[in-house]
Amino acid sequence: MNLFVDSANLEEIAKVNELGVICGVTTNPSLIAKEGKDFKETLAKIAELVNGPISAEPTGLTATEMIEEGRELAKIHENIIIKLPITQEGLIACKQLSSEGIKINVTLIFSANQALLATRAGASYVSPFVGRLDDINQDGIALVEDICDIFTIHQIETQVIAASIRNPLHITRCALAGAHIATVPYKIFMEMFNHPLTDKGIENFKKDWDSVYKK
Ligand code: E4P
Repeated sequence: MNLFVDSANLEEIAKVNELGVICGVTTNPSLIAKEGKDFKETLAKIAELVNGPISAEPTGLTATEMIEEGRELAKIHENIIIKLPITQEGLIACKQLSSEGIKINVTLIFSANQALLATRAGASYVSPFVGRLDDINQDGIALVEDICDIFTIHQIETQVIAASIRNPLHITRCALAGAHIATVPYKIFMEMFNHPLTDKGIENFKKDWDSVYKK
């Protein structure tokens, strides 16, 4: 399973990219608004940092608006992919933009049927939201499993991006469920490194070495 970073913060993206563990970035209007900077400039800077798919989400709600905005955003860099919501208007835009060769990530997926619809309209990626389902007492991981099973059974090539990741266990479970990608917030990336036995091991190795070789 590949890892993307779910962020529009350039410092966070640069740090996690330096670690060599990501191969893409997802943004959404909330993440962009949180940074308060120019949308297109931010996307261009992200594209300079990371060599991989970068999801950019139009804010219009009609297919016409999404198509126009999607075309503009796609011009920023060849790695920009357009993120569209799983609405009827979103799928009309998905069909049109994908027919023009623009890759689409269909987002806000909360059911297997929504994922299936997105694939039929030409989506290259679907993004089921694990954490938001867990928040309402539904099983987000089970949704990822269902979508991955359906795609395998029917040999559907659309990739599954497990999104709305809230903790490191979500990542392990999405990998076991067969997700192609998990898009992970910076804070959760940092938590993935942690294990008390790793810290203790490093401390002990150094102590043992120093006791013999350090004068
Ligand atoms: C996905 O691409 C979204 O940007 C993101 O994962 C949403 O996560 P949230 O539920 O934490 O806002």
